[in-house]
Amino acid sequence: MVFLLVPAQLARKEVAKLLSVTKDQNATNASKDDKLLRLPYFVSVEQLDVEDVFNLIHRAQYFKKGGAVPKLSRPVFCVNMFFENSTRTHTSFEVAERRLGLTAIPFDPAHSSVKKGESLYDTELTMASLGIELSVIRHSKNAYYDEIIHPKAGQHLQMGLVNAGDGSGQHPSQSMLDMMTIYNEFGHFDGLKVMIVGDLTNSRVARSNMEILNKLGAKVYFSGPEYWYDPKEFGDYGTYVKNIDDEIADVDVLMLLRVQHERHTSDSDNTEELFDPAAYNEQYGLNQRRYDLLKDSAIIMHPGPINRGVEWDGNLVEAPKSRYAVQMQNGVFVRMAMIEAVLRGRKIGGLE
Ligand code: CP
Repeated sequence: MVFLLVPAQLARKEVAKLLSVTKDQNATNASKDDKLLRLPYFVSVEQLDVEDVFNLIHRAQYFKKGGAVPKLSRPVFCVNMFFENSTRTHTSFEVAERRLGLTAIPFDPAHSSVKKGESLYDTELTMASLGIELSVIRHSKNAYYDEIIHPKAGQHLQMGLVNAGDGSGQHPSQSMLDMMTIYNEFGHFDGLKVMIVGDLTNSRVARSNMEILNKLGAKVYFSGPEYWYDPKEFGDYGTYVKNIDDEIADVDVLMLLRVQHERHTSDSDNTEELFDPAAYNEQYGLNQRRYDLLKDSAIIMHPGPINRGVEWDGNLVEAPKSRYAVQMQNGVFVRMAMIEAVLRGRKIGGLE
């Protein structure tokens, strides 16, 4: 196992390169299961190349079909630290951990010493000292994980980490379950038209998915209010469509985003004041007319939770073209594969 000691200010791309070097070294050392992913941390889709994504999807598919889980040689403790609200990510990580035979230790941020001012790094140091080897963290701060995976001089934290969502940064487990859902549907990504619609500015799902879909050869479109679309940030990853109806009949995947009201309060553009739910539904919402315009083979996705009647008319959430429930189902198996990758990358519980 190689531990990374790099300055906190190191550029993201360079970190991704370093992480992938570690991953390749681990993969080269592996004598069996050489298609399995091995990572010291799973914090961003920037760590992954195309082969990694396919290996992860295949592993998740194997678990979904009831394939045997790797046997741990000793008890392994993990902790799920959710500093932001969550239903599906939190619960499905816990299901994934139990399926893998890990013991999840409860952690309630509201009653923890974080409330007394303890830092995230010191909280993790505490967990590691107690014998916890893996943490799954959701946090409102973008790239919160930097302070954990880039220890400063004199720090010796050794902790596996899976990012369950950082601010408006990354949501790798949502991205991987989305890729699994798309792949299971179409059997490939090449040239698929994926339109991501809605609150792009605040969406870690959009940021993760635009990055990985481009790597996989899909064609990305964006739509939604212009105040949530910044060409400087999104322009390199896809084409902005002002009127969703101009493209909807052509897309293979319609990916709706949640309108994230809780993040608009700190929004310098005051988008909460500009936002009108009825007008949004009229211009960008998935209603019966737009549902009928979609190709028969097209699918509709949403990371959840849904603002019913805003992004998606409630009576269509479980319509035949919807993959909402399938996404959540796939989330358990993809998270098993992600956790396994970190357990193997760090040789935890006898896995390698
Ligand atoms: N998709 C998603 O992250 O949902 P939760 O916030 O409920 O975890």
